[in-house]
Amino acid sequence: MTRASELGKVAVLIGGRSAEREVSLRSGSMVLTALVARGVNAHGFDPAQRALNELVVDRFDRVFIALHGRFGEDGTVQGALELMGLPYTGSGVLASALAMDKWRTKLIWQALGIPTPKHVLLDARSDWARVVAELGLPIMVKPACEGSSIGISKVMTIEQLEAAYVLAARHDSTVLAEQFIHGEEYTAGILGDEALPLIKLETPRVFYDYEAKYNANDTRYLIPCGLSQERECSLQTLALDSFRAVGAQTWGRVDMMVDSAGQPYCLEVNTVPGMTDHSLVPMAARARGIDFEELVMRILEAAQVHG
Ligand SMILES: Nc1ncnc2c1ncn2[C@@H]1O[C@H](COP(=O)(O)OP(=O)(O)O)[C@@H](O)[C@H]1O
Ligand SMILES: [Mg+2]
Repeated sequence: MTRASELGKVAVLIGGRSAEREVSLRSGSMVLTALVARGVNAHGFDPAQRALNELVVDRFDRVFIALHGRFGEDGTVQGALELMGLPYTGSGVLASALAMDKWRTKLIWQALGIPTPKHVLLDARSDWARVVAELGLPIMVKPACEGSSIGISKVMTIEQLEAAYVLAARHDSTVLAEQFIHGEEYTAGILGDEALPLIKLETPRVFYDYEAKYNANDTRYLIPCGLSQERECSLQTLALDSFRAVGAQTWGRVDMMVDSAGQPYCLEVNTVPGMTDHSLVPMAARARGIDFEELVMRILEAAQVHG
């Protein structure tokens, strides 16, 4: 129990105000249960229901952030906690904000030579024919700052582009059109200085959308992922490089695709990925011999004020 008592009074931030509130409620309650099971003096705290300064009033010592999306994963809560001097889990302000923004993440990756699908920005006046000429078809259209596949569509014909743009623009004013990668999808959990074993994702759906992520029972998660050890290792190195490129720290997840020629592409970094017991990072950790409770403890023990 020494480990648990050294951590003091812990707030698990759960729920929040983003479109991913429901996912956070699931992640956060799993995290809270695990911490309590390990003897940690942990309490749930929903920033949609309580002002954050109550963390200080109630004398919390550290914070586990289990919020996804805006006002939680995007650097805002991290900034507030920095000001309060409260150690918190995961990435700092800059990395959290950057990773939330898929467009600016891609600009950084491009500058560093980290492969990512070709893209153009869309707006209401975009020349749809030019977009198709540049990226080919199909095209993935996504809001720059959203998660859980919310607002994303796969566009098969030029006629569908505008409607896809309008849908994405409901979620964010910056909308990205991305070259579609035909191939396999992998995700790499990151814990400390290490990329965890890769998971290969397979879905009979059009892509790995919200349904496939949270509700469908025909999504397949392959771990081991089926790649040779050498190949897996090189993708893990790429995942770590792309994670560090945005300044991310401690834990997270990098989504990747590999085309039929074997060329990998990084899609995005998640700085607070799902933490239900069937989420991807816990699955990858388990394959590495780290159970859910131990994973949660390690993430919490690495909590810090970044300064
Ligand atoms: N360029 C692409 N080519 C093919 N599939 C893609 C591409 N971009 C995204 N996808 C599919 O859409 C899913 C969600 O996209 P992603 O960029 O990871 O956003 P989110 O933050 O919503 O998870 C991915 O898991 C993948 O299945
Ligand atoms: Mg993703």
